[in-house]
Amino acid sequence: MMEKKTFLPGRSYEQSFAVPFAYPVHFQRDIFSADNPLLCDVLNRLHENRLHRAIVCVDEGVSDAHPDLISKIPAYFDRYAGKTELKAPLLCIPGGEKAKQWDTVRGLIREIGEMHPDRQSYVIAAGGGAVLDAVGFAAALIHRGLRLIRIPTTTLAQNDAGIGVKNGINDLEQKNFIGTFAPPFAVLNDALFLRSLDFDHWIAGIAEAFKVALIKDADFFDYLLAHAADFRERDLNLMEESVYRCAVLHLDHIRDNGDPFEFGSARPLDFGHWAAHKLESMSGYLVGHGQAVSIGICMDAYAAKKKGLLSEKEVRQILKGFTDCGLPVWHPLLEKTGKGGEPEIMEGIENFREHLGGQLTLTLPDGIGKKTEVHHMEKEYVKESISFLREFSSQKTD
Ligand SMILES: NC(=O)c1ccc[n+]([C@@H]2O[C@H](COP(=O)([O-])OP(=O)(O)OC[C@H]3O[C@@H](n4cnc5c(N)ncnc54)[C@H](O)[C@@H]3O)[C@@H](O)[C@H]2O)c1
Ligand SMILES: [Zn+2]
Repeated sequence: MMEKKTFLPGRSYEQSFAVPFAYPVHFQRDIFSADNPLLCDVLNRLHENRLHRAIVCVDEGVSDAHPDLISKIPAYFDRYAGKTELKAPLLCIPGGEKAKQWDTVRGLIREIGEMHPDRQSYVIAAGGGAVLDAVGFAAALIHRGLRLIRIPTTTLAQNDAGIGVKNGINDLEQKNFIGTFAPPFAVLNDALFLRSLDFDHWIAGIAEAFKVALIKDADFFDYLLAHAADFRERDLNLMEESVYRCAVLHLDHIRDNGDPFEFGSARPLDFGHWAAHKLESMSGYLVGHGQAVSIGICMDAYAAKKKGLLSEKEVRQILKGFTDCGLPVWHPLLEKTGKGGEPEIMEGIENFREHLGGQLTLTLPDGIGKKTEVHHMEKEYVKESISFLREFSSQKTD
């Protein structure tokens, strides 16, 4: 007689582990000077007692502004030969938002691949946030992740884009639609690079400094307000201090917020960014990230006032701070109409929700230096903020 087949009950096994990440962020000047051992020490920081091979990718905007780098970098590796080795001539990559596309990443993968890196090889990326994003993404894909050393060369990259744990490129008309979480091996911030920035890129980092100050540090906010005119006058020492304070606030947040790889729906460091990302993309990336963030923060500050989180005086202080620094608070594209006759910028809210997943979660200041989360953005507040900002900016330019 055939035995009746019985099925075993289903089984499951809970897998769980944690991977610690640690990376230093250095703040120094003249890091490729032959008598500065910092980079060599960083390559050696795990004391592996072997030759370290590095491939160096440089933002063309940086090599154009600092032509001596082309000989200085190989000379640096010659100086420390025996401990380090430069794998090939430098790879120069056109800078700016156009770097953040598949063609650049594919090209980088091919060129880096031709140098036969192994998983312990280093990719050193020197440039603005866009080049760091593109190179970081390529480095994260090769052999499932090469060691990435970032050398951010803009204010925004030194205090935000270049110090965090992720990368991204643009696709399907969405900013950072593609990317990975991939913490760097180390970050080296060199203030001397900042001297060659044009004004817009010099001041762009201050928008991110205001962002993090507004939600985390009222003293830093006061500092930024007090020095707005000095930032405009390109005071390098003050910018260096502001980059440091802003970077530390970002780094502390990533470590302490309990969600470094952003699995949840909240992203406090993207305060003001739903409108900023949409504005950048609507402008074909002619509006820079920092300038778009400045406008996005002003829109959200206005909404925060309507929600009873900021006072009128605080909103005006914020707008004045940006204006005094030389950052914009309004752009004509805010009035462009999209689907259903609504301002197109409003589509940024749903793009933002989709990018983070789950319920819409926007961070707003709750008083200066503190934050809260909201799950709804009233259309009326967005529309009113656009009129308010246009009015404010026209008064300022009169
Ligand atoms: N991955 C992240 O966590 C993160 C966070 C914030 C922003 N970002 C991204 O960063 C990008 C913006 O970066 P950015 O503001 O650094 O601008 P950018 O990378 O677009 O660079 C701006 C321009 O300045 C040039 N440049 C760079 N350094 C220079 C220097 N020292 N001297 C002269 N010219 C120089 C570049 O060639 C480019 O033309 C955006 O794409 C944004 O999405 C990424
Ligand atoms: Zn930003």
